[in-house]
Amino acid sequence: MEIIQNGIRLHSDLNHFFDEVRINSGTIHHSQQEKSKVNYLDWSFVPQYEENAYVVKRDWRKLTDKEIKALTASSNRNYYNTIYVGAISEELKQIFDDLKFKECQRPEDVKECMKRDHDLTLKLSNTMQKYLTNFANGKPFHFHFIGANLPNIDMVAADTYTLPEGFQEEDKKCMGIHNDGAELRTVHQTYKSGNRFTINLGNETRYFLYVNLSLTQAFNMLKKKLGVSVEQVDLYNISKLFFKYFPDYPVIKIPQKPYQYYIAPTDHCFHDGSTYGMTTLDTLMIYFGKFQY
Ligand SMILES: [Fe+2]
Repeated sequence: MEIIQNGIRLHSDLNHFFDEVRINSGTIHHSQQEKSKVNYLDWSFVPQYEENAYVVKRDWRKLTDKEIKALTASSNRNYYNTIYVGAISEELKQIFDDLKFKECQRPEDVKECMKRDHDLTLKLSNTMQKYLTNFANGKPFHFHFIGANLPNIDMVAADTYTLPEGFQEEDKKCMGIHNDGAELRTVHQTYKSGNRFTINLGNETRYFLYVNLSLTQAFNMLKKKLGVSVEQVDLYNISKLFFKYFPDYPVIKIPQKPYQYYIAPTDHCFHDGSTYGMTTLDTLMIYFGKFQY
């Protein structure tokens, strides 16, 4: 097993945060591991994966003291070198409760929650704006997404832009562990993209999975391994190449409980979300910014 390098670290003010963080022995091509199955309401299917998708192995274990040290953020934290995990304010929790997000059963129910009570939705928007200003570091931020994933999917991210309108959940193709935002930048500029503030609005713990290397670090590892052919590495193929050549590099699994948030630079590191083991809808709200604290 490979030892984790110093890279993208973790910062949290939650008690005993590292006790529940897990690490594994790396990744595997999706065809080589039995997939979790969705059995929920009237859905019953095995999620499809993109041809070159890599998924996380399931041999999770606790972190060693040395690994905790390598992952603990220093005081030089910023929006691209650190992932932050915490709980949202009581005020926000109350508004989400009032909007009844936890009663959503299907992905399409989530948008209904936002439409039901105009005043409450406005209150949410204003309260979020005020709350996120504390994390924004004086930089602009904006709402990105509200929606949901079905329970018990190993790796939830799927590119839905290429699917026809009216696509079904079972039509999605999971991309496996990946980096976001490939259309925007080159490998060495991804740190500029900012990060996402993701809130769990569901009833159960979901998981954020990530590799603690920046894309620049991943690129340099590939460069060392591949030599001159590294010129072919771009933001579209870097994840496939990395997991092909470094299948033993560990993945970190962070539990995100109901009403907890994580902040992560998802253009700048390999990551995914997981609803593995869940039995209820995985509802999320996402903002983009350059959050840090
Ligand atoms: Fe992503």
